[in-house]
Amino acid sequence: MRERIIVALDVENEHEALALADQLRDYAGAFKVGLQLYGRAGPQIVRSLTEDGHKVFLDLKFHDIPNTVGRAAEAAVDTGAFMINFHAAGGRRMLEAAVKAAGNRAKLLNRPAPLLIGVTVLTSLSGEELLETGLSRTVEEQVAALACLCQEAGLDGVVASAREIPVIRKACGRNFLVVTPGIRPVWAADNDQRRVVTPKEALKLGADYLVVGRPITAAPSPREAAARLLAELAGEI
Ligand code: C5P
Repeated sequence: MRERIIVALDVENEHEALALADQLRDYAGAFKVGLQLYGRAGPQIVRSLTEDGHKVFLDLKFHDIPNTVGRAAEAAVDTGAFMINFHAAGGRRMLEAAVKAAGNRAKLLNRPAPLLIGVTVLTSLSGEELLETGLSRTVEEQVAALACLCQEAGLDGVVASAREIPVIRKACGRNFLVVTPGIRPVWAADNDQRRVVTPKEALKLGADYLVVGRPITAAPSPREAAARLLAELAGEI
């Protein structure tokens, strides 16, 4: 079970991140480095975590022209991350450029390619907010369409709310990873997330990985919160 928990290290510096990861070593399968920590600590933080024996999901959500995203994907492969991601809204050619560049770079470095994951619709967005961005589809329709696009472009899976897993499975089948943030145990606050699901529900719905941040990292004792979350999940798979 532990392998499927990814803890988001949304902290301000390398020291805090390494200490938190060390504290949670027995409760998480991987740690997520996102824009906040990467902006402070740079690619070195991925290497430091990896040297400490942790797996890293590098969550930089690339979204740019195909050439730029291809080069960014190469740099992400160089860090040694086991999972990297791209905004599916960047379109087919951007996603294909990412797949090609990451695969070639991994081959050159003689290491396995990281899992390539597409971001569908941010879990912080509500249906009304999606409309405001000019999209007239429902969240579910948009997630399913983008998941198909990611699969056709050769990605390994998508990030989405667990609420959308049924439509993703219907559109893409079982052999397509679904990584789910927006995880909120009943004892934790929603914060800025909108499409939230409890960890148990996410597993029941078929999530492959659960990304959990503040319910663990902002708890008075992150280790106790992580242990509680894992205990709640015991017996669910
Ligand atoms: O603290 P919380 O559990 O809300 O953290 C969720 C993490 O997952 C954050 O680091 C956020 O950037 C990330 N994420 C997300 N929704 C997505 C993709 C990533 O919340 N669609």
